[in-house]
Amino acid sequence: MDELEEAVESLGLEKFKRHIFLCCDQSEPLCCSKKAGLRSWDFLKKRLKELKLAGSEPIVFRSKVNCLRVCVNGPIAVVYPEGTWYHSCTEEVLEEIIQEHLIKGRIVKQYAFARNPNFEKDSGRGKSRL
Ligand code: FES
Repeated sequence: MDELEEAVESLGLEKFKRHIFLCCDQSEPLCCSKKAGLRSWDFLKKRLKELKLAGSEPIVFRSKVNCLRVCVNGPIAVVYPEGTWYHSCTEEVLEEIIQEHLIKGRIVKQYAFARNPNFEKDSGRGKSRL
């Protein structure tokens, strides 16, 4: 098995159902303070692990992003495949996003500020393009 295949296997890249990107640990913190972003990131990691949503059989994949280019009302997050953007992602809001969106697939409308349905439409065809 080559190194890429090992990474695919160990990270469960072909298994997870949703991917959340969170703006935090920014080189230039604009949407929130560096401290607030890191607090949210630590919470997200901890909760996904506690709920057994992450790991070698992940349901949710998480990524830390230096800037999602929105730069206001953060921490900002985006969830795929729905292409749903969230503002104010504090620990409390992330808990709601985890319980409702990441687990049940229901968008948390109170904090969602944009949605790009093109990702959902294309998600079924993704594999055939590889
Ligand atoms: S600094 Fe968070 S979106 Fe740009």
